[in-house]
Amino acid sequence: MIEAILLIKKTHTGLSTNSSMPNSTDSHVASHSYASNFYKEQTPAHLHYAQLCGVGGQAGVGLPTAFSSDDMFASCDIGCGFGLTPLITAAVDPTADIWGFDFNPEHISSATALSEVAGISNATFLTASFETFLDQETPDFDLITLHGIFSWVSPENRQQIRDILAKKLKPGGMVYVSYNCSTGWASAAPMQQFLCDYVDRHGSELKKGAIDSVVLVDQMRTAGASFFGVNPQAGKILDKALQSDPRYLVHEYLTGHWTVFSPAQVANELSGAGLEYAGSADVTHAFDVFHMTPEAQAMLNSIDDPLLRQGVRDFFMTPLLRKDIFVKNPQQISPKQQTELLLDQRFCTTKAADQLPQHFNFPRGGVSLTAEAHAAIKAAMIQGPASARMIIDASSTETKSVLNGLKLLTNIGFLAPALPEAMTKAAQEQTYRFNAALAGFEENGDEPVPFYASPVTGGGISRDTDPALRQALGIRV
Ligand SMILES: C[S@@+](CC[C@H](N)C(=O)[O-])C[C@H]1O[C@@H](n2cnc3c(N)ncnc32)[C@H](O)[C@@H]1O
Repeated sequence: MIEAILLIKKTHTGLSTNSSMPNSTDSHVASHSYASNFYKEQTPAHLHYAQLCGVGGQAGVGLPTAFSSDDMFASCDIGCGFGLTPLITAAVDPTADIWGFDFNPEHISSATALSEVAGISNATFLTASFETFLDQETPDFDLITLHGIFSWVSPENRQQIRDILAKKLKPGGMVYVSYNCSTGWASAAPMQQFLCDYVDRHGSELKKGAIDSVVLVDQMRTAGASFFGVNPQAGKILDKALQSDPRYLVHEYLTGHWTVFSPAQVANELSGAGLEYAGSADVTHAFDVFHMTPEAQAMLNSIDDPLLRQGVRDFFMTPLLRKDIFVKNPQQISPKQQTELLLDQRFCTTKAADQLPQHFNFPRGGVSLTAEAHAAIKAAMIQGPASARMIIDASSTETKSVLNGLKLLTNIGFLAPALPEAMTKAAQEQTYRFNAALAGFEENGDEPVPFYASPVTGGGISRDTDPALRQALGIRV
């Protein structure tokens, strides 16, 4: 167990215990602990690059203020679970004021203990519900994130979340929200309902009920249930469920308010908090063209309304999860500023740099980096983090092919946007302490935390990453 004094700052849990309730309700599910995970899409470093590229929206709208030296940056993760993402965000930016809250006390005591063991003094974790957090004394936030929340809570809870966003997000501030997308999940809704029905009818313990019901659905498929012939996407979702951590199954499938949304529906709801759709945090949007026919692309390009365009896009791409960015009173930088910032954006490799790929396969065919761009990016990355400007200056390669090459390599996960060099230096000591604390947990026999904090990427790096690469990413354990 964690050897630290567990300091829970507020203990109102908001959990209700009504024994006549079906098991698949929000409160039963939320009282089950979740798995600890890190999501790069919630970090300022990733969001900054996504908005600079204009992924799924307009370039340069509402950049997060984390990289501005003028103001102190403050962010909050709503329903933060075990808080690994806000902890890593705090570790890599010691001057930022990072908050996270959740009404499950086990989640918050674990996050608080870890921040204390690691000496992270710029992270605050509260045991609070969406309702009670509204009246907590907090700073106004530049960034508020919600991952795994919006599709899984009641309409009343979503209203409470909107109240938080309306009250606590600064003008110009950004919101990241993920939610289940209606086109991707269309054929799997009956399966989700069956899992809830099964758990309720059996009165099962949730994790056991989730596993047993998924296995039963798989047996139906094996026995020739025509549902899977009519709905092939449901089979893919079932395959994923069969491989999943039971804690994920409980939180994904068994909440009483599981809801899928179109982008316009979410935008309508969030407009109540003064927010406008600004784009997507999912950089794969930048390469939709490699997945779509020319007719589909022409159709998309003819739609001016950004939310309808996203809705149409989802009919072609059928994503399960959307990861959208909303901004309050969005500010937009000029195209010239956008190009300058893109040229100065640094990148690092998250795989062995000498293996940097040149050719990529997409559903619509192969795409290649030019030989010059490939050689120039590879040569730079072998030396360490570099910006497009540095790569162009060192090689005289054409600007467009370097910028596109960096975007493509980021899209496939070979590269990651890197923090400005001064931020990396300022983050080193605190990330060493944080990573040492994570390694200490493992030595104590606790469940390993799956990510370390990198002062280079400003995010988490899987603990399974090759040690030499981890070191290049500033991770010393
Ligand atoms: C699916 S988990 C997501 C956790 C984390 N954001 C992540 O993605 O790893 C949903 C989280 O929301 C929390 N939650 C649910 N309802 C809540 C409420 N009304 N107030 C505060 N937290 C809530 C749960 O305790 C749980 O940790």
